[in-house]
Amino acid sequence: MSETIAILDFGSQYTQLIARRVRENRVYCEILTHDTSLNELSSNPDIKGIILSGGPSGVYEEEAPKCDPEIFELGIPILGICYGMQMGCEILGAEVLSSSKREYGDTSLEITSKNVLFEGITRHTQVWMSHGDRVEGLPQEFEVLARTESSPYAAVSHPGKQFYGLQFHPEVTHTPEGSNLLNNFLFQICKCKGDWTLSSFIETQIEAIRQQVGNNRVVCGLSGGVDSSVVAILIHKAIGDQLACIFVDNGVLREGEREQVVKTFGGQFNLDFHLADAADRFIDRLKGVTEPEEKRIHIGHEFIDVFKEKAKELKGLKFLAQGTLYPDIIESRSAFGGPSSTIKSHHNVGGLPEDLGFELVEPLKYLFKDEVRNLGRELGMPEEIIQRQPFPGPGLAIRIIGEVTRERLKMLREADAIVQEEVRKLDSHKNIWQSFAVLLPVRSVGVMGDKRTYENACALRIVESTDGMTAKWFPLPSDTLSRISNRICNEVHGINRVVLDISSKPPSTIEWE
Ligand code: XMP
Repeated sequence: MSETIAILDFGSQYTQLIARRVRENRVYCEILTHDTSLNELSSNPDIKGIILSGGPSGVYEEEAPKCDPEIFELGIPILGICYGMQMGCEILGAEVLSSSKREYGDTSLEITSKNVLFEGITRHTQVWMSHGDRVEGLPQEFEVLARTESSPYAAVSHPGKQFYGLQFHPEVTHTPEGSNLLNNFLFQICKCKGDWTLSSFIETQIEAIRQQVGNNRVVCGLSGGVDSSVVAILIHKAIGDQLACIFVDNGVLREGEREQVVKTFGGQFNLDFHLADAADRFIDRLKGVTEPEEKRIHIGHEFIDVFKEKAKELKGLKFLAQGTLYPDIIESRSAFGGPSSTIKSHHNVGGLPEDLGFELVEPLKYLFKDEVRNLGRELGMPEEIIQRQPFPGPGLAIRIIGEVTRERLKMLREADAIVQEEVRKLDSHKNIWQSFAVLLPVRSVGVMGDKRTYENACALRIVESTDGMTAKWFPLPSDTLSRISNRICNEVHGINRVVLDISSKPPSTIEWE
């Protein structure tokens, strides 16, 4: 295994950013629940450091999440960020109070004591704060390293326990020296070597997959998108013919998608590829369902039913491999048992039934999309798969607001194909994260060939993003917008109005449901 940094998650919206920053420094890390047992941490000799994330609670609250205080006895350097700092300080004898003065946003930090954590960083620097509580009454074993106007203890250390605490967030880009600071923690304090690369990730995962599945067979839900394709190729590299891939035509795919996936994976890559033709089952199951979460859950369950049936046919399949990514986990579950809230049940996470009947293999679950794309390149996959826009598991069903019917699917599919075709003509299409149409449950009056029409409206959703966690609406050139709108109204029977979605995430999500 590679040297590892364990990040204990206390529910901060920035926890994944910490993970990213650590990996950008070529150090492997894992995000673990805040209450991960001492045993688990101490039995892993690869753990070179621990980072305690921020979180929304106050340490003095009764229900506040806490780590095992014994982790401070492990002799491993620990960095506490915001809530993580306050909790660490409290465990080591400090008092933490709710402060009447909140500090939020850009703040000036003054480094008051020389410490390796701040090596190479100028005495006055900007940092990003987001807290209400603050540490008071530090025991004398602590050293104060930096202050701000409102926080006399903006950075502290406890040399005896190798504990470092930062009241601000080094992981966000608004703290310009943040990556230097994390760099110092990783290399000067934890003595990491920084030799983790995607190829070492591949090797580690291949080993881990072999260990996990032994001689058993694995079924992989292959949608043809980047994530599941990378998973299939990675697992195939690990266990060869023990892997069977199933592509489910769930009836809510885009125009030509089934043919494309069958063409790409049916012949290439030596995969044991199976097509499950389940379109009618899915569409029948969605009859009368209008509530977004209900749609997601129905689709997730139907997927599993199809898999279970195929598994019986193919015999001896014990594991189910999925292309679950880190953002899927964050938004589907309260983060690793932490107190953040569920946004949507992504079908490959939140929509799984309790009695799954398979054990899960999810080798990408700590990665972000751009990291998965790089992994795909490292595995030698063609750019046309790597560059594919994300497409949600529940497919067009969550882009039809209201009930999903065959007629409405046909309309959306045609409109969506026009959007894809026009966007692909642009040089800037590589900067677009997703571009698609959404069918609205709205009819409006139009005029065509001197005749009154009363038909459906669709919205265009075109966004840029780096990881799907946040997104900005992407301004397509107006002639492209006009062409898309004209073509949809003229070519798609049943749509007479096209509107543009100009909202960002947050507050709006990328998909409408
Ligand atoms: P939202 O709509 O939550 O989407 O802003 C963020 C990104 O995730 C994709 N998405 C999904 N992907 N299964 C998936 O595999 C799902 O259930 C799912 N729901 C949303 C979405 O397309 C966007 O890229």
